[in-house]
Amino acid sequence: MTVIAIDGTFASGKGTLGKRLASHYKMPYLDTGKLYRAVAYKLMETKNSPENLVEAINAAKEIKPEDLKIPELKSGNVAVNASKVAAHAEVRKELLKFQKDFAKKGGILDGRDIGTVICPDAEVKLFIDAKSEIRAHRRHLELNANQESISFETVLKQLTERDTRDMNRKNAPLKIAATAHIIDTTDMTANDVFENAREIIDSIIF
Ligand code: DC
Repeated sequence: MTVIAIDGTFASGKGTLGKRLASHYKMPYLDTGKLYRAVAYKLMETKNSPENLVEAINAAKEIKPEDLKIPELKSGNVAVNASKVAAHAEVRKELLKFQKDFAKKGGILDGRDIGTVICPDAEVKLFIDAKSEIRAHRRHLELNANQESISFETVLKQLTERDTRDMNRKNAPLKIAATAHIIDTTDMTANDVFENAREIIDSIIF
């Protein structure tokens, strides 16, 4: 079963790319960040802190596919808390089976540890990144379109904090898999990124 693993930094364009590739290759797609966002959202709903390990584990145990469709998962606060719950090794362990079961049938997964931990044998590994300011700008536009009023400076600060947390945590930190193809999307349109990734994938498996 073919697996395409897409890892990368926040707002680098990996989600847009994942969805476009899934539609092009007619493969199932899983945005694994939504699993961590759903855990964070459940904790927020029950007024628990993202640092509350016991409640975070309980929330992770109960995640179901329909939870990934909750519209609030897109919000800025959920994203900040998702990065905090994702640092708990026990939460990551609970969410492992969901991801492995999905990957078993073949598909495209995007996240932070797909090529390194979840699917180390993926046929294709892509690592997507862009300059912080560009990513913050993209995220700022997205949040404004979502009616969230937040300054560019705050978005940049939160993004830098999340990058630091995602890259420096002990468990499954964000890092570039040894065989990953790196795409820097700083000066690229979404279409350029898709074409670049398609060329890489076609040269490897199709
Ligand atoms: O991709 P995203 O912004 O929706 O991810 C939300 C948070 O979840 C992010 O800060 C890091 C974490 N995450 C992770 O640790 N591992 C993954 N495979 C996906 C996301």
